[in-house]
Order: sequence, then structure tokens, then C-alpha cells
Amino acid sequence: MPSTATNPSQRRTDQLAELPQQMIGQVVPILDFGSQYVQLITRRVREAGVFSLLVAPDTPIEQLAAMKPVGLILSGGPASVYEDGAPRCDKRIFDLGVPILGICYGMQIACQVLGAKIQRSTSHEYGRAPLTINDQSDLLAAVPDATTVWMSHGDQVDQLSDDFTRLATTPTCPYAAVRHNRLPFYGLQFHPEVTHTPHGSDILSNFLLHICHAKTTWRMADFLDAQVNHVRRTVGTSRVVCGLSGGVDSAVVAALLAKAIGKQLTCIFVDNGLLRKNERQFVESTFRDHFDIDLRVVDATDQFLGDLKGIDDPQEKRRRIGSRFIDVFKSASADLPDARFLAQGTLYPDVIESGHGHSGAAANIKLHHNVGGLPEQLGFELVEPLRSLFKDEVRKLGEVLGLPEQIVWRHPFPGPGLAVRILGDITREKLDLLRDADEILLEEIVAHNLYRKTAQVFAVLLPVKAVGVMGDGRSYEQVIAIRAVESQDFMTADWARLPYDVLARISNRIINEVRGINRVVYDISSKPPATIEWE
Ligand code: XMP
Repeated sequence: MPSTATNPSQRRTDQLAELPQQMIGQVVPILDFGSQYVQLITRRVREAGVFSLLVAPDTPIEQLAAMKPVGLILSGGPASVYEDGAPRCDKRIFDLGVPILGICYGMQIACQVLGAKIQRSTSHEYGRAPLTINDQSDLLAAVPDATTVWMSHGDQVDQLSDDFTRLATTPTCPYAAVRHNRLPFYGLQFHPEVTHTPHGSDILSNFLLHICHAKTTWRMADFLDAQVNHVRRTVGTSRVVCGLSGGVDSAVVAALLAKAIGKQLTCIFVDNGLLRKNERQFVESTFRDHFDIDLRVVDATDQFLGDLKGIDDPQEKRRRIGSRFIDVFKSASADLPDARFLAQGTLYPDVIESGHGHSGAAANIKLHHNVGGLPEQLGFELVEPLRSLFKDEVRKLGEVLGLPEQIVWRHPFPGPGLAVRILGDITREKLDLLRDADEILLEEIVAHNLYRKTAQVFAVLLPVKAVGVMGDGRSYEQVIAIRAVESQDFMTADWARLPYDVLARISNRIINEVRGINRVVYDISSKPPATIEWE
């Protein structure tokens, strides 16, 4: 499949460390050949109640065997099986004795290992294709005779020996779905994991539940119990320090740790002066009301704003904020000699991405978001109970932990805060202007029931002045841009089609109520090519 190709062979190989102990013997690992849809496969498997994990395609067979998998999935990927350097498939995966499902490249590479001929097909198929089913006995059970599937490939299997049974075809793909007659191997040339394949989840469920006989034991409450026990075992009698940001990830980590180790937890919330209006009070009261934890709130506004004085380069802002954060954290935890561990809200996509060796913007996001650099610089060991979860799974866990809706469903807020939403240098006056505008914006979004329908909504203060007429006089004041996006994973995003009357009311209120703003504009850029934040 064509792709924003990742290099799966660079991904982590210590996969066993990612596997919750209780899932050994119940997991369906996915060999990641680099498909842009690979995380979707993981999600679909977990949605079926089965635990799944992405593993590098060159993961040693011994490591796979140690997971005691009940099945294996080979993902798609951007390469061609006959290309030099294309990721290979170890023939010994068939010795594991468990059912294997190959998808797109995963099908091709497995069929090649089993002796099939792969050819660059005369007609490439990208997009929807009609599927005709020949055999509904197992993988395609209960799928209608004629349905639609999502294709995205240049190569396909063109010749198969009598060892295979053809299960389905499309007009240009003779082997759209196949089964091996002796080995427990199935192949799909199309993508069951995407929503454009309407019966894709049924096909994956057939594989998982009826072919692998996987147990549907992946429940958030069980996961919580297992993580609580795991944290207790890891931490012993030591103290754990947890940086609270007010966002859902760190809140869920703190709640989980509070449940696991109670008084051995110290949470530190740093007010860097770059927060939204009333944010500090919100975080403080929410945590004090819900948890009996040692919460330290450090006001470091002066230090942060001092560091940022006159700085207008976004990366330099981030660097200074990151390094000040380390200093503040260091002094806030200096009197905790028994603090051996630092808890972080690292999520599964972070784990996967960090294995890609990304640098630049993505690495910076991680640096701030996960307070990266802290463990090394402060000599902490890490506790990362969310390492195997996706964002929406973290939200579910937050609900299981009883966190209030305002925390669980909060829009993300970047570590460098309003510093990256004020274009140009930062001053207290600009921060106040932006806070007021942002507060009005969010009030209206909530009032019009749009908060849960959008992924992120915020105001940006632009470094330009514009002319206006207010009363009978000329005004020459600043401009606010409104950014509202819809997104599943924040890697791609589309601008939200907010109703005109809501936009009108937001603009009206900001211009009337925030002195110093006389113009409001709406950002209609999608990501890519734009990013969600302006800096
Ligand atoms: P972009 O702007 O890259 O943002 O499209 C994607 C998501 O990441 C958030 N973001 C950050 N989060 N530190 C953070 O903790 C950062 O430096 C940072 N920059 C962007 C952004 O708000 C969006 O949710």
C-alpha cells in the first residue's frame, strides 16, 4: 500500500515489556510491516475484546512464542515483496501453530514464503471494490455474498497452488481472500480494519473468536486491577512523583496511582503562567475533591515569563519552557528523598512513534508532553501504566476510575501552553487578552453543545493590528484567530464546520467583551499541511 511510510524495522523489539502479564497466553500480536492503518488493526482487535500489540516484523520467534499468542496478524505495508530490503517474514511463524491472518502486504509476504507468485497487478486497486464471496465457511462467515471492501495495493497474489482455497474475489483481484488447506493461514488482499470495509469488523471477529478461539478478556476494569497490582509490586514502599498537567493522561495516571499506592504518591502541578483562565483553581479543586493525595502546586509564573521575555522563536520558547520545567520540578521534589519513581502518562502511540526515531517537531511534542528528560536528569525510574493504551482507551480507564467528565473529555492542551498560541513575544498583557478571548470561545462551544463534537478548540493571538470602527472612533487593535478542529488521533485533523451563528456570537462577544481585540478570524486549514497549533 502507498503510505506515509514508517520504518517498522526501527521499531522497538523489547515487545514483551509492553505486554501486561495477565495477557500472556491471550494476546494476538500484529507484525507491523509499516502500514499507515496498522494502529487501526490493533484497535479493532481490542474492540473485539481481545488484547493486541504491535510488534516489529523481525521480532525473534522465541520472543513471539514467549507471549503464548493465540493468533497472529501480519499487517500491510508500503513495500513490494520483491524489492531489495523489503521486510521479510520468518517462515518459522508457521511453527507457532496458531492461526495467522495476513492483510495486504502481510498476505503477499506469507503467500510468497508458502511458495506463491506475487505480481505487480496490471490494474492497481485503490479505493472501494465490490467483493464476491465464494466460501462463507469460516473467515467470511455471515458476510453478505456481495459486499464492498477497501483496497489499497499495487501488488497482488496472482497465482496460487492447490494448497490454497479461494474465498473471495473482486473484478480485478482473483485472490481477494484465501485460506491455506493444511496450515492455519488466511490472507486478505483488502483492508478489514478501515470503516470503508463495512463488514471488516465481522471478518476480524470471525478470525479472532471462531478461528483463534481468543478469549474476550480485554476489559478496562480488569486492566485497571492488573495495573494497580503491577504498580504496587514495582514501587514497593518507595514514593512516586507524578507531574499533573490538568490533561486527561496525567490525571488518569494520578488517579490510578492514588488507587494503587495512596499516600506514597506526590503530585506536582506547575503553574507556569501560561495556563488558561482559572486552570490552576480547576486542577487544584478537582484533585483535592476527588483524591486524598499529596498535591503540591508550584507557582513559577515569574521564572517562566522571565525566561520568555523578548523571545519570539517558537522552538526557542519550547526549549526555555522545557528546561525551566526541569528546574522547577527538581526543586519541588528536592525534599522527597524516598521518591524513586516518576509516573508519566506515556501512551501507546508515543511508544510506537518514539521507536521510529522521529526528530524535530514530533520529538519536541513528546519532550514537553511527557516531561521528557526528567527521569534522566533527576535520577528517577519510570512508572508508565498507560503504555499499552490508546487515547480513547485512556478516557475509558478514566471513567472506570471515576474521574469527572470535565477531566475525562478535556480537549488536549500543549505543554508550552499559551506561549505557542501567542505569536511573537509573550507579555502578561497579551496572556490576559488571550485568556479572556479563549474563555469566551470555550463558553460558547460548551453552551452550543459542540465541545464533545470537536477535538480541540482554542483562540490564538496574532502579532498584527487591524483597523476597526468602534462607536464613532477609529480603533487599531489586535486580532484573534479561532482554531477548531475535528480529529481522531491528532495526526490528521480537519477544521470544524462550526455553525455560522455560533461563530457570529463568538466573534461578537470577543470583540465586545475583550478590550484590545477588534477583529476575529476563523482558521480553515486542515492538518496536513497546516498543524493544529499555530506555532
Ligand atoms: P500539532 O500542532 O503538531 O499538534 O498539529 C498536535 C497535537 O499536539 C499538541 N501539541 C503539543 N503538545 N507540547 C505538547 O504537550 C507541544 O509542544 C505541543 N505542540 C502541539 C496540540 O495541541 C495537538 O493536540
